[in-house]
Amino acid sequence: MIHQVHDSAGRRGLRQRIFSYAYRRVANDELLSGVAEYRRRLLAPLQGTVVEFGPGTGANLAWFNAEAVRWIGIEPNLFMHGPLLQAAAQYGIQGELHTTTAEATGLPAACADAVISTHVMCSVTDAPAACREALRLLRPGGVFAFIEHVGAPHGSGLRRLQRGIRPVWGLVADGCHPDRDLEATIHTVGFSRVEITPFRIRVPVVSPHIAGQAWKG
Ligand SMILES: C[S@@+](CC[C@H](N)C(=O)[O-])C[C@H]1O[C@@H](n2cnc3c(N)ncnc32)[C@H](O)[C@@H]1O
Repeated sequence: MIHQVHDSAGRRGLRQRIFSYAYRRVANDELLSGVAEYRRRLLAPLQGTVVEFGPGTGANLAWFNAEAVRWIGIEPNLFMHGPLLQAAAQYGIQGELHTTTAEATGLPAACADAVISTHVMCSVTDAPAACREALRLLRPGGVFAFIEHVGAPHGSGLRRLQRGIRPVWGLVADGCHPDRDLEATIHTVGFSRVEITPFRIRVPVVSPHIAGQAWKG
């Protein structure tokens, strides 16, 4: 059972409606092959209170141990909520769904054993602020687990393409930035230990990915 908390107006624009519709149809395990293995490795062992930034339609919910996790979703796109709640019911997930953002969740400090983010840091308005919020939410010893697409190496042709396509890409993908240097951001916000694995998927423009964990000391 998920308790819905309408703690902000959320987002209900045309851009969010179109992205929610398209994402449900396009972003499947086949397209994102390579990502599923990292979801399993990072999410299956989690226990306790898990805050998920931008859960979208619930792609991560199948990987949690529903018996061991109390889930708190932070999803501002109200058009995602229907399929997300359906997925939560399907996988027996208990917890809360908020309409706030990753940059300002409104949750108390040190409330989470884990914070997770998969394909979200590209879309948030302020990625460093969202990473600082993850750190604030974690109790000492807690872990931030992430799977994100990132900018290609500086000076590469792909990086130039990512930069050039950004305005159009952001319009069709609800604010997604294909060229963010997230790895550097995660290293600088104050986690005590960071482990990051780079990998690639076979999707043009957003093929460079990182998966990893960052701990609060
Ligand atoms: C590409 S989808 C990824 C959904 C899901 N995490 C997954 O792996 O399939 C990006 C999600 O981030 C959400 N999002 C965008 N900006 C956000 C913000 N500032 N705070 C929290 N979520 C945000 C979007 O509404 C969307 O659901």
